[in-house]
Amino acid sequence: MREKILNRLIPLAAPKEKGDLSFEETLRKRKSHRYFKKETISFETFSQLIWSAQGELKDGRRVAPSAGAIYPFNLYVMTDDFVQNLIPGLYAYDAGRHSLKRLDSRDLRPYLSEAALSQNFIAVAPIVIVLTANLDEISKVYGSRAERYIFMEAGHIGQNIYLQAAAMNLGTVAVGAFHDERVGKLLNLPHYEIPVYIFPVGAVP
Ligand SMILES: Cc1cc2nc3c(=O)[nH]c(=O)nc-3n(C[C@H](O)[C@H](O)[C@H](O)COP(=O)(O)O)c2cc1C
Repeated sequence: MREKILNRLIPLAAPKEKGDLSFEETLRKRKSHRYFKKETISFETFSQLIWSAQGELKDGRRVAPSAGAIYPFNLYVMTDDFVQNLIPGLYAYDAGRHSLKRLDSRDLRPYLSEAALSQNFIAVAPIVIVLTANLDEISKVYGSRAERYIFMEAGHIGQNIYLQAAAMNLGTVAVGAFHDERVGKLLNLPHYEIPVYIFPVGAVP
């Protein structure tokens, strides 16, 4: 089913409980990839990837740790017709509902690439994940340590993405080099929500 209307929730496929690779094999396989096949990714694989980053567990915790269980991170996805059953655009992940909301019908990857020092692989990656953090939410509890906690949390989430991608024969690379304001403007972020990390993902040649 093709979703055409903005802001309607698109439920993702339920996460798997078992994969094909052992944890140890996955660790050995993990490496940064910057070249991707122009290959369609199944909706199940895509859903699993998103869940690995910020999926919610039955008791309300998420798959990656968070200081004080605040979970200040938001996850956005950009794609251009490379995910089965998903039309191009910008989507936001709703962890509680394990669903996506389509925010923009444009393919924003080329603009994101420009904002990230023209790292071209971002413009052509089948899926691009952007992690942002609500600095206000975490600052209220942790004051001046909030910023440090955000970067620590980003590392946890990023490693989940790296490992889940590797376990499903996908590749990714952590991208930290970009202009914050330009990325914030592109995603229409409020001033307290800061872009932290970008992960282009795709099948590896
Ligand atoms: C905080 C951080 C920021 C990074 N930023 C970029 C980036 O902007 N562009 C890029 O191509 N790689 C980036 N990388 C990926 C590193 O270049 C890569 O992890 C490193 O070369 C080691 O290779 P490996 O991941 O295959 O082990 C970043 C990695 C980290 C941890």
